Amino acid sequence: MFYVLLLCLPLLCYSEYILLITKELRLDPLAGYHAVELLQRFMVKYIEDYITTPTPKGATSNHPRHYEDAVYNKLKDKFPLIIFSCVQLASKLSLHSHMIDNNTAVHFLHSVGCTVSKQALLESELMVLKGLKFRLNVLNPLTYVEILLEVLGHNEPSIPLKHLYHYCHHVLQFISLERTAIYETLLMATTECVSPSREQREKFVPVTEDCMLLGVGVIAVAAFILRKWEEVVGELSHITRISKRSITDFAHATLVHIVGISSSITPLS
Ligand SMILES: *[C@@H]1O[C@H](CO)[C@@H](O)[C@H](O)[C@H]1NC(C)=O
Repeated sequence: MFYVLLLCLPLLCYSEYILLITKELRLDPLAGYHAVELLQRFMVKYIEDYITTPTPKGATSNHPRHYEDAVYNKLKDKFPLIIFSCVQLASKLSLHSHMIDNNTAVHFLHSVGCTVSKQALLESELMVLKGLKFRLNVLNPLTYVEILLEVLGHNEPSIPLKHLYHYCHHVLQFISLERTAIYETLLMATTECVSPSREQREKFVPVTEDCMLLGVGVIAVAAFILRKWEEVVGELSHITRISKRSITDFAHATLVHIVGISSSITPLS
């Protein structure tokens, strides 16, 4: 099931849109990452429903490619609005953001070439809410980063938290945008195989959904950039029980993409 979604991800590169809307509307970055999580959950639910609802004509085969096309075709027109609804919902849950009211929403959407009525906006929001079964209280990677940093600062007061936090924002943004490529590199590194099998890919899916690993990875990369690797990574491993090896693998996969895949970086130890 999730494998199907994984196939859809490169096609629907929505994180970038969400982060741009968040910036444009001057929302708290937390609201943006929250919106990404909401959208992901909504899509999983949507695809699950789509697959489990029998098609009357029996037109779709069992091949994931066909699901992907069918779901994409069905959602294509509504998708910009669905993305926006997720941001709007996230803005309503954020403590530090103003809520996007329906005037701002309609104006904004109009300015990006998507003309909708307030009624359509409301319906889209309700559709997303129902799809999520009104469960909006999901954790997002930035929350993990913030909580981990707090514990880290408590345990190791010498770590320059403010600096680290600043870099974490950039690193998380980079990972969110290059997600597919980074996890592909990580998959290849962990399987030691350039073309992993379908089975290996399926086994790897929980890794891609592990927010704790992502949070730790983000901080580790930021620490590497700030030359605080030694102090930070040992402590992160201690806090989360994620092995230093796993943290290193994740950081390496990310740094390879930050530096550019063709250049080599000194192996981390
Ligand atoms: C638009 O927002 C106003 C004020 O929040 C509200 O009273 C109105 O019902 C909304 N309209 C729609 C169609 O959602």
